Amino acid sequence: MDAINLSACRAPLFFLGAGMSAESGVPTYRGRGGIWEQYDYQDYACQRAFERDPEKVLDFHQLRRATVLACQPHAGHQHLARLQSAWPALRVVTQNIDGLLQRAGIRVDAELHGSLWRLRCACGAREAPAPAEYPQRRCADCGQWLRPDITWFEDAVDAACFERVADWVRRADLFVSVGTSGAVWPAAGFAQLARRSGADMVEINPEDNEASPLYARQVRMRASEAMPALFPLTAATAANAPSAP
Ligand code: APR
Repeated sequence: MDAINLSACRAPLFFLGAGMSAESGVPTYRGRGGIWEQYDYQDYACQRAFERDPEKVLDFHQLRRATVLACQPHAGHQHLARLQSAWPALRVVTQNIDGLLQRAGIRVDAELHGSLWRLRCACGAREAPAPAEYPQRRCADCGQWLRPDITWFEDAVDAACFERVADWVRRADLFVSVGTSGAVWPAAGFAQLARRSGADMVEINPEDNEASPLYARQVRMRASEAMPALFPLTAATAANAPSAP
C-alpha cells in the first residue's frame, strides 16, 4: 500500500464517522446491526420524542452511555493519537458523540453532533460529563427536564461549529474520511467542500457508499488496519509520539 507522508501535508484533516468506533464495539447507525435498525429515531432521538416522553429518551441515551463505557479505544484510535502528537496541525473533526477519541488522548477539534456525555437544558444550563447513570435528570437552575446535548434529527446544527469546520476544510490539503456513510447532511457536505477546495481525498471504509465517488483514493479496509498502514510513523516522528495510552 502506498503510504501517505503527513510531513508533506500542511493542513491534514481527519473526518470521522461511526465506523471509527465500530471495532471498539460501539454499534454504527446504518447497515447490519445498526442502531437505527433496532430503534426508531422518532421514538428515541428527536425533540418531539423527548417532549412526548423525556424519561424514555433519557433511558435510551443512558443505555448508550453504558454501552460505550464498556468499550475501549482500538489500535486505530491509538495510532491517530500518535499521528496528531507528531503532527499537531492534524485536525480531527468527528460526527461521533461517544467520546472514544478523547479517551484515546486525541485532541478533537469539533464534535459536529454534540456529545453523549453532556446534558443541556432549554434554559441554557449545561451539565458536566457524568458516568452512565445520569446523576440528575432535571435542571438544577430551572427544574425542566435535561436533554442530551446531541444534535438529533430535525435539530438545527451548531452553526458556529459548522462554519469553523468549513473554514478548516477549505484550507485542508488532505481530507481523510474514516468510517462514515456520507448519508447525513449538512456534515456530509464537507467532503464535497474539501474536494472543491483542492484537497487530496482519501476514504477509509470497508464498504462503498454514496460519497465514495468524491474520493480519489478509496481504502477498503477497517480503520484499525488502515490507519497504521496508510500513515506510518517514521522513526523520526515516532521518536516524539507518545506510546499507546
Ligand atoms: N472501519 C471503517 N469504517 C467502518 C468500519 C470499520 N471497522 N465498520 C463500519 N464502517 C463504516 C460502514 O461501512 C459505514 O459506511 O462506517 C460507516 C458508518 O456509517 P453510519 O452508521 O451511517 O455512521 P455515520 O456516517 O457516522 O452517520 C452520520 O448519522 O445518525 C446520524 O448523527 C448520527 O453522526 C451520525 C450521522
